[in-house]
Order: sequence, then C-alpha cells, then structure tokens
Amino acid sequence: MQQYQEAFSRLPTLFTPRLILRPARMTDAQDIYDYSRDPEVARHVLWDAHQSIHQTRGYLRFLLKQYRNGQPSSFVIELAQEHRVIGTIGFMWLQQENRSAEVGYSLSRTYWNRGLMTEALSAVIQFGFEKLHLNRIEAQHESDNPASGRVMVHVGMRHEGRLRQRVYNKGRYVDVELYAILRDDPRR
Ligand SMILES: CC(C)(COP(=O)(O)OP(=O)(O)OC[C@H]1O[C@@H](n2cnc3c(N)ncnc32)[C@H](O)[C@@H]1OP(=O)(O)O)[C@@H](O)C(=O)NCCC(=O)NCCS
Repeated sequence: MQQYQEAFSRLPTLFTPRLILRPARMTDAQDIYDYSRDPEVARHVLWDAHQSIHQTRGYLRFLLKQYRNGQPSSFVIELAQEHRVIGTIGFMWLQQENRSAEVGYSLSRTYWNRGLMTEALSAVIQFGFEKLHLNRIEAQHESDNPASGRVMVHVGMRHEGRLRQRVYNKGRYVDVELYAILRDDPRR
C-alpha cells in the first residue's frame, strides 16, 4: 500500500493539450463552487449541488485530508488558457490486492461537449497504469447519463454490463453502466 500512499500524498501535475490536472488548493473554492451549485452538474453524481461556498470548502478540506493520508483522491481540472478550475477527476477507491481502482469526474456545464473530459480521463488512465501500476480501471455512469458513457468509450474503456438499480440517488433507484479498461487493452 505504501507505493499508493506515496503517489496520492504527492499527487503530480498532469498536462494535456488544453488542461492542467493538479492537486486541489483551498483557493480553488470559488471556481469549484461556481459550477458545483448547478443542479445539472450534480444530477448524475452522488453529491448534491452545493448550497454555499462553505460546502465547497468542506469538499476541498476532504481532498486535502486524502492527500495528507495518502488515500485515493482527485485532481482539479484547470483550463490551461484561462487558469480557471472547471472540474475534478480522480480515484474513488483503489484495491491494492487486485491492482484495480474506480475513476469519477465532473465538469462545469459551460465546458461540456468540447472533448475536455475525454482528454482528462485519458491522462488519468495513463497515470493509473504507468505510475500506480494498476491492472484494471473501472468507471460507472447512470444509464440516463449517456454523455459520460461516450467519454469512457472514447478512451478505450469497454462496457461490461448494466447494474440494475445499483444506486439510490436523488430520490430514485438508478440503473448504472459499468465500464473498465485493462492495462493490456488498447488505449485511445
Ligand atoms: C459527463 C461529462 C463529464 C462529459 O464531459 P465532456 O467534456 O462534455 O465530454 P466530451 O466532450 O469528452 O464527450 C461528450 C460526449 O457525449 C456526447 N453527448 C453529449 N450529450 C449527450 C446526450 N444527451 N446523449 C448522448 N451523448 C451525448 C457528446 O456528443 C460527446 O460524444 P461524441 O464525441 O462521441 O460526440 C460532463 O457532461 C459532466 O461533467 N456532467 C456532469 C457530471 C457527471 O455526470 N459526471 C459523470 C458521472 S458518471
């Protein structure tokens, strides 16, 4: 576990053509709050739209604690040109014995449908295989959130099945689509 703990306690900065993925800072609160208060962004994730910037600060404190403890956590997604934080992406859990992990992400609605999350996910998958030496990386999306499934397909993840009523989210049981990519699978 030590290898993972070290990696998560010193999360690197990853660069893609348009994005900088880096550890979160408390000073990111305003940027993150600006999009996290949007119910459309929160609709298919397991957190509620933020009611105040205090909630966003609470989330940032959680991320910083995960870094301190070397636990699975997220990068913020900064738009390189504007130096604005427009989303987050990272690891929800990691199982050392299976060398497997799950990724999750969200992005400000202003920036949807520009291929940005495809770019971010691709970089995080590369980090997972090359730096964390994972063998399998999973992701899940609610069945009625197909845009997220497109992102998974774009990076080479394969659809493994529908998990019926897997989660209870925002007042309803929701079917979830499970995707995964193995280290020897072709990446895009
Ligand atoms: C899901 C999300 C991450 C996608 O990010 P993005 O940067 O817009 O994704 P990309 O631009 O890389 O790709 C989006 C793809 O979805 C497609 N798409 C968009 N809306 C769609 C819809 N309603 N139905 C089907 N496909 C859709 C786009 O056409 C594109 O696919 P294509 O390139 O094959 O045409 C973003 O919408 C988001 O953050 N949503 C809110 C939070 C969330 O749902 N997170 C994921 C939880 S599993």
